[in-house]
Amino acid sequence: MFKILKNVKPRNFEGLFVSILTMIILNLFDLKILQSFNEFIILIFMWYFVVELLLRFIYHFRLHYIYRFTFYFLFLLGILTTYPFIEQFGFVISPFLISSLLLTLLMSYEVGITVGILQALLISLHLSNFVIFYYFIPQIILMNFLIRNVNRRIEIARAALLTSFLAIILIGLQPTYFSFYNLTIAVLNPFVSTVLILGLLPYIEYFTRIYSNIGLSELANMNHPLLKKLSIQAPGTYYHSIMVATLAEAAAERIGVNSTFTRVASYFHDIGKIKRPYFFVENLSDKDENPHEKISPFLSHIILEDHIKSGIELARKYKLPLRIEFIIPQHHGTRVQKYFYYKAKQIDPETSEEAFKYPGPKPQFKEAGIIMLADSVEAALKSINSSNYQSIKEVVEEIVSGIYNERQLDESGLNLRELELIVEEFIKVIINIKKERIEYPKEDIQKVVQINDLQ
Ligand SMILES: [Fe+2]
Ligand SMILES: [Fe+2]
Repeated sequence: MFKILKNVKPRNFEGLFVSILTMIILNLFDLKILQSFNEFIILIFMWYFVVELLLRFIYHFRLHYIYRFTFYFLFLLGILTTYPFIEQFGFVISPFLISSLLLTLLMSYEVGITVGILQALLISLHLSNFVIFYYFIPQIILMNFLIRNVNRRIEIARAALLTSFLAIILIGLQPTYFSFYNLTIAVLNPFVSTVLILGLLPYIEYFTRIYSNIGLSELANMNHPLLKKLSIQAPGTYYHSIMVATLAEAAAERIGVNSTFTRVASYFHDIGKIKRPYFFVENLSDKDENPHEKISPFLSHIILEDHIKSGIELARKYKLPLRIEFIIPQHHGTRVQKYFYYKAKQIDPETSEEAFKYPGPKPQFKEAGIIMLADSVEAALKSINSSNYQSIKEVVEEIVSGIYNERQLDESGLNLRELELIVEEFIKVIINIKKERIEYPKEDIQKVVQINDLQ
C-alpha cells in the first residue's frame, strides 16, 4: 500500500482534478447522474492513457510545471468556451479551434491536435451527436498542422483560409444536415478564431513566459533593451552571440527542431556578460590589458561563472521566455573552465576539477545542446585561419566529440546521427563565413563608384 502511494506523483492528482472539473463543465446545463459517471470513467481513461503519454514524451512538460498548468488551463478553457456555445447556438458557431491552436503555437502540434481531438470526442459523446466529431476533427487536424511552424501572423491567416475551404467541403458532403446560415458561419469561424488567438497570445506569453514562435520573432528584432545594451556595453559578446545564432539556427533547421527558438535563444545566451564585459576576452582589444592577469584563477572562475547567475536574473527581470532562461545555465552545462583550472593547479596541485565547474544543469533539450556546441565552435573560429574544408572539419569534429565525450549531451536528446548532421551544417556555415570576398575587376569598381556618385 505504502509502495503504491510512494509511486503516486503530484501529476496523477492533477489529472484527477482536471477530469472532475471537465465533468462539472460538461454537466453544467443538464446533470444526468449515470451519464456523468460514465463520462468520468472515460475521462480518467483518457487522462491516464493518452494525456499521461503526452506529458511524458513532449519535452516541454519536463522543463517546468508551468507548461503542465498552461496545458490544463487551455484544455479546460476549450471545453468551457465550446460547450456552452454549442448548447446555445449550435456547434458550427462554437470557438472549437481556439484552445488547440493556442497549444500548437505555444508547445507543439502534437499537443494541440491531441487536445482538439479529445475535446471533440468528449463533447460529441456528451451530446450523443457524432456530426460534431465529423465536423470538428478534420478542421482541428488541418489547421493545427498548417500552423505548426509559423513565425509570422500572416501564415495563420493563410491556414484559416484553407480551413474555411475544408469546412465548406465538410458541409457540402452532408447537405441535408447543414443550412445556408451554417455555411456562412463555418466560413467565418476559422478567421474569427485567428483574431481571437492573436489577441490572446501576448497575454498568455506574458503571464506564463511560454512563447510562440511569433512572440519569439518579435524579441529578436534587435530593439530589445537587453540586446541594445549588449551591443553597446559588450560589442564583442554581441558579435559572438550573432555568430552563435547563425551556426545554431542552421544546425537546428537541419535536424528539424525549432530553429526560430534556437536563433533567438542564442542572441540572449550570454546576456549576463553585460555586468562585467571586460572580463570576457571577446570584449578586449589587442591593446587592452587582460584583467585576469592581475587576479587569482579562483577569482577569475567566480567572475566568469557569474555571467550565468546575472543572465538568469536579467532573464527574469525582463520576463524573457522560460526556455531562454533555461538556455543560460545549460549552454555551459557542467563543463570545467580548463584554462583557469590548469592555472590554479600550478599554484595548488591539490585543486579539484569540481571547483572550476559551471553549475549546470547539462542541456535538457535538443536546442540547448545545439547552442552549447555552437558556442564552443564559435569561440574556436578565430583559430581557423583558412577556408580549407579539412582543417575546418578537424576543428569542428574535435570540439563536438570533446563535448560528447564529456557526456554533456547525455540529457539533451541529441543522437549520434543528429550530431553528424550538426557537424556537417557547422562546417558549411563556417566555410561560407571564411570564404574570402571575391574581388571586383578594376573596371567594375570604377563603374560602381560612378553609379554611387550619381545616386
Ligand atoms: Fe557563456
Ligand atoms: Fe557564449
